[in-house]
Amino acid sequence: MSHHRFDAAYYRRHYRGRSRVHSAREVAHLCRAVDGYAAWLGLPLRRILDVGAGPGLWRDWFRRHRPAARYRSVDVSPYACERYGHERRDIARWRPPGRYDLVVCQGVLPYLDAREAEAAIAHLGSACRGLLYLEALTLRDLAEVADPGRTDVAIHARSGAWYRVRLRPWFRQVGAGLWVSSSSPMAFWELEAAAGATPS
Ligand SMILES: C[S@@+](CC[C@H](N)C(=O)[O-])C[C@H]1O[C@@H](n2cnc3c(N)ncnc32)[C@H](O)[C@@H]1O
Repeated sequence: MSHHRFDAAYYRRHYRGRSRVHSAREVAHLCRAVDGYAAWLGLPLRRILDVGAGPGLWRDWFRRHRPAARYRSVDVSPYACERYGHERRDIARWRPPGRYDLVVCQGVLPYLDAREAEAAIAHLGSACRGLLYLEALTLRDLAEVADPGRTDVAIHARSGAWYRVRLRPWFRQVGAGLWVSSSSPMAFWELEAAAGATPS
């Protein structure tokens, strides 16, 4: 796909003004929640990878509040890399070397076509040894949940099942956007994680 789409106008449209997808303050709640939940699980977030970091709101929060963490943010957009300070990487084509305690991929996969998204999920899977925070709009979200005024609807809409099948080799679903790497020994109580996350 063309990466020119993610230019200055794109970030202006989606991250400024009243119709923005989310603000730094909103994202701070999510960062605190994920950071706090990882602490509750006893998982130190030493290495964090943010894929498709865009305006870098997660990165800003972690830099400020968890300065000891090593935070690596990547994005395919030359504009975003230059403006917000990320490494330029296309997650469909780049397998991150090394493994991360937290991988963040918010609002990125629906921009990729099926083949690219499939490769990207495998790359996220191999890069994660702890938690993944994933947000990827599905067909159902577009039909029932998303506000067309605030959501980029020019995306590759796929079913939740499509994602689940491809996430399953790598992750167990915890809930609230969080997935735990299958390589992690972390254990959850039966009613703590989504059905299927714990062996029955
Ligand atoms: C809706 S923005 C999300 C930004 C940020 N994650 C957030 O939630 O605020 C989508 C971002 O994904 C990036 N992106 C799209 N395709 C990508 C790819 N193949 N590899 C890496 N980043 C990609 C875009 O450049 C854009 O910055």
